[in-house]
Amino acid sequence: MRYALVLSLLAAVAEAKKAPLSAVAVVRGTAEGSAVSGTVRFTQTGDGLEFVGKISGLPAGQHGFHIHEYGLCGDSGKDAGGHYNPHDAPHGHALKHGPKKAHAGDLGNIVAREDGSAVVSGTIAKLTLSGGKRWVAGRAVIVHEKADDFSQPLGNAGGRIGCGVIAVSP
Ligand code: CU
Ligand code: ZN
Repeated sequence: MRYALVLSLLAAVAEAKKAPLSAVAVVRGTAEGSAVSGTVRFTQTGDGLEFVGKISGLPAGQHGFHIHEYGLCGDSGKDAGGHYNPHDAPHGHALKHGPKKAHAGDLGNIVAREDGSAVVSGTIAKLTLSGGKRWVAGRAVIVHEKADDFSQPLGNAGGRIGCGVIAVSP
C-alpha cells in the first residue's frame, strides 16, 4: 500500500518536471523597419497562466492584445490565424469573463504611454502553457493597430502591428 503511494508520488513529481512552467514571446513589429519590440513572459501558476512584459515602439494609446491560434508571424501577422478560440465562443474579454465565455485568447487592451511603451500583465484563469483543454505554447501574441472595442466578431482592432511566438524555455 505504502509502496504504491510512493510510486504514484514519484510519478506525479516526474509529470510536474516534464510540464513546461514558463515561456517567452519575443514581440517584433510586423512591418519592415517597425520600432515595435518587447517580450512577454508566461508563467504557469496555481491560479492560471500569468503573463508579464513590456512592449515599446508603439503609437500612444490602446491596442488590442490577443493570443492568436498559430505561432506564425508572416504576412503582416495574418499567418497567426484568428483569435485562439477552443470553445467556439463569441469575442470578448477572457481576463474578465473567463476563457470559456470569450475567445480564450482575448486579453483585452494594452495601453502605450506617450513614450510608446506599454506594460503588459494579467492572469488568465483556466488557461495553461501546455496540456489540458486550453493551452498557448506555440501560439502567437498579437498587438493590434487600434483598440479592441469588444464588438463582434473580432473587436475591430485593425491591423496586426506586433507579433511574437510563445516559445517554451528549456
Ligand atoms: Cu488579435
Ligand atoms: Zn477574440
